[in-house]
Amino acid sequence: MTGSEETDNIFATGDIFANRELVRVGHVPELARVVGRDDEVNAIGQALGPATVGGPPETTIVYGKTGTGKSLVTRCVSREAHHEAEGNDVAFQYAYVDCSDYQTEAKASREMARELAANLSVGVDVPRVGIAAADYRDITWDLLSEYGIDSFVVILDEIDKLDDDELLRSLSRARESGKSSTHIGAICISNKIEFRERLNERIDSSLQDNELVFDPYDAEQLREILQNRTDAFEEGVLEPDVIPKVAALSAKEHGDARKAIDTLYEAGRLAEKQGTESVTIAHVDDAVQRAEVNRFEKLVGGTTPHVKHILHALALLTADNPEQEAFRTHRIYTIYTKLAEQEGADALSEDRVYRLLKEQSFLGITESNHTGGGQSEGSYLEHRLLRRPEIVIQALNESEKE
Ligand SMILES: Nc1ncnc2c1ncn2[C@@H]1O[C@H](COP(=O)(O)OP(=O)(O)OP(=O)(O)O)[C@@H](O)[C@H]1O
Ligand SMILES: [Mg+2]
Repeated sequence: MTGSEETDNIFATGDIFANRELVRVGHVPELARVVGRDDEVNAIGQALGPATVGGPPETTIVYGKTGTGKSLVTRCVSREAHHEAEGNDVAFQYAYVDCSDYQTEAKASREMARELAANLSVGVDVPRVGIAAADYRDITWDLLSEYGIDSFVVILDEIDKLDDDELLRSLSRARESGKSSTHIGAICISNKIEFRERLNERIDSSLQDNELVFDPYDAEQLREILQNRTDAFEEGVLEPDVIPKVAALSAKEHGDARKAIDTLYEAGRLAEKQGTESVTIAHVDDAVQRAEVNRFEKLVGGTTPHVKHILHALALLTADNPEQEAFRTHRIYTIYTKLAEQEGADALSEDRVYRLLKEQSFLGITESNHTGGGQSEGSYLEHRLLRRPEIVIQALNESEKE
């Protein structure tokens, strides 16, 4: 090897992303990047307003479908409230607790204390185990008093995952019960609208004043959200039709901004892997297909190889016969036996396959209907694939390779 020979940089990242952090899940951008949620930002601002001047924050409940900006807006406005309070010489603190990570009373209470200690930048050692939820809360009240905190807000995200309401109850009573002299409030977030009634029954009626619902985004809003993150990419890398395409697709699918950002990121990653100079709508299509394949793999992950062969057989039939939608058990069975043989497995009986197909419809992958044959034939069952066959085939080919 000569000294001047250049070696490829195995860590090369390509020329697609300038700042990939901006399109990563979990990134909390600053308030200026929050698009199209002015009313919601204002409503949470109103609830936290009194706390920025040392008064009591209003407890608020936030509902809305997944990916509608609930966690983002709440965290951004709380961070903003903290700055505002600082400017007013008021000691305001908040603690963010994601209850899907801390589902028990004790774990959520511990996380609240830990977050508060971290935000105060104090090295309090919050014990990991061995003390009761109430003791964790006492650590919180002690910190609040020791550091002279005027107002404190706890964000309980995904509160429907919490197994108990004691934390919420104690937050709403801490002041009147004399445990703390700090003004305390909570922002409760849930993507389960069904949870609304349960929460209403469980918590104090005084907490029900502020209820906020986040609606799904439309294509225009999604386009704006994505447009606001284009600096994640190197200049000129995104082809102009990419963002409108991702926005349109995501609007059709429940208006979920998380999915939209994720699709854009995955399209960029595919372009990066292929070493191309730009991100095109073909990358977007591939990213969407990849995500569908992953979801399908997860869905059938726990089923037996026989079920996979049956679904594979139906997918092959569907792909080969675009003019036909549904297929009789026997035709599926013929292909199924070949696939099973190729894998060296003993095929199940036709009757067993018939019954499995009927059961599989519960997974929402196939649908079985009785169809009248000719007069001589009587009625028989036909099975239809409810997914795109190419997705099913790709996923099953991949899972067979493993
Ligand atoms: N209005 C917006 N402007 C900019 N980015 C947004 C906006 N709304 C959502 N996002 C982005 O979309 C993603 C999902 O948002 P968020 O996590 O707030 O959703 P959520 O409503 O809390 O969903 P879930 O119920 O699943 O927790 C995040 O990456 C967030 O940064
Ligand atoms: Mg959330």
